[in-house]
Amino acid sequence: MQFFVSTPIYYINGDPHLGHAYASIAADIIARFARFDGQDVHFSTGTDEHGIKVARSAEAAHMDVQVFSDMMTMKFRNMSSKINMSYNDFVRTTEARHLASCQAFWELIQKDIYVDTYAGWYSARDEEYVQKSDVVDGKAPSGAPVEWMEEESYFFKLSSYQDKLLEWYDNNPDFILPISRRNEVINFIRGGLKDLSISRSKFTWGIPIPGSQGHVMYVWIDALTNYITSLGFPHDMARVSEMMKNAIHVVGKEILRFHAVYWPAFLMAAGIPLPKRVYAHGWWTCEGQKMSKSVGNVVDPFEIIDKYGLDQLRYFLFREVKFGEDGDFSEAALQKRISFDLANDLGNLVQRILVFIQKLGGGIEVDYDFSSSERKLFERSRTLIARMRPLMARQDLYGALNAVWELVAESNRFINDSRPWELAKRDPEKLNKVLTVLCESIRSIAFGLGPFLPDTSQKIFGFLNIEGKSFDEIEVDFKNQAFQEPFPLFPKAM
Ligand code: MSP
Repeated sequence: MQFFVSTPIYYINGDPHLGHAYASIAADIIARFARFDGQDVHFSTGTDEHGIKVARSAEAAHMDVQVFSDMMTMKFRNMSSKINMSYNDFVRTTEARHLASCQAFWELIQKDIYVDTYAGWYSARDEEYVQKSDVVDGKAPSGAPVEWMEEESYFFKLSSYQDKLLEWYDNNPDFILPISRRNEVINFIRGGLKDLSISRSKFTWGIPIPGSQGHVMYVWIDALTNYITSLGFPHDMARVSEMMKNAIHVVGKEILRFHAVYWPAFLMAAGIPLPKRVYAHGWWTCEGQKMSKSVGNVVDPFEIIDKYGLDQLRYFLFREVKFGEDGDFSEAALQKRISFDLANDLGNLVQRILVFIQKLGGGIEVDYDFSSSERKLFERSRTLIARMRPLMARQDLYGALNAVWELVAESNRFINDSRPWELAKRDPEKLNKVLTVLCESIRSIAFGLGPFLPDTSQKIFGFLNIEGKSFDEIEVDFKNQAFQEPFPLFPKAM
């Protein structure tokens, strides 16, 4: 089965920060889960390099805008590696393939495009015109300053898509998740859609519109098109159609409207299938405050990862708050999660069992002739992925990670109840069963963790001397095998 998951492409007017890392790790977890489950995954990310905002940042840095873009996009590529992102395409909107893709896309939607003049308040930071009634004290609802713009512009007949979009929403109740965001979008559409200005002529840093003098494409058309550029548009239409039907766009809540209203309308105009889903995640604040350069509280993912470790951060971000809701980042909260959940609950579980097995000689003699309590934990291990699947099918990353942690807790309880170290002398036969079931649960935990904490998962597979490449393997019983000497997975952070 084909599966396409995308991150937003990032504006390059500033350095990558925690918010960007969050969106990318979320998509990475979704991609890895699908791959473990045997799907043919295409996973794209990239940088959004055009538009007035980037042009002004380059100017402020006294740099040529292309040179500036080359420098900044590298920072986002580095972030992608730093967070162990398993993407297979990185789209830059300044690439030749993307220029060709945007221009071909424009041709496809041409029938819905006309020329008129536009005058209105424009927010450069949001790259969007703001309605007069929404401007308060010279600011857009987002708080960004607005400026008056008047220009000849190409317009897209968005108004003629109002009913078609509402019908689409009716027929596809899960198009937007979490469900709470769906109504916002439907109300926005019901409120009436105005035609959309989709070109700019006040600056040149953009994709030229075919057959027009001095107009570049509105940066959001350019940006949204990246998804199909990545799929091989316009050359490989079969792949574009197939992948788009199975696409999940992970986006932040503030850019949901672009993905859930404009993008579907453009795609309808172009005759390209709409994505399966747009998932809107929430925003992170830092120590209760909005992250901002001027306050100086922007969380740098590179720093946090160097200080605490990558899987530690990945865990925190998806355990601390429900995916879809807003969260607050603090080092104290991160340290607590590392000490309690990672070092104590998971780390000790793995360590206690595997060190014990090393003392016994470094391997186990498997015995599946379980008592009822052993069987219960064994069944829970074997069904872990089955419990995670329906949650992941709705991108409930929090629920899925929680399912892994339930098994961690159950396994810890089982150790406390069955006291394997006391069985060594007293009842070696029973010990084999207890260790068999515990190794099965550690192994299942490693599978469940695979998409979330890939390095940790690989370390556990390494200890157990197994491959751990696909969820199918979870069904295979352990054989008598030699284990590797374990080392602590999470040195304490405090
Ligand atoms: N370039 C557009 C997206 C175009 S997609 C076709 C853009 N870029 S952005 O760099 O401003 O934001 C990219 C993503 O980072 C968004 O999904 C946004 O929600 C996310 N975040 C930026 N700051 C964030 C937080 N503080 N917290 C969580 N995510 C946030 O918008």
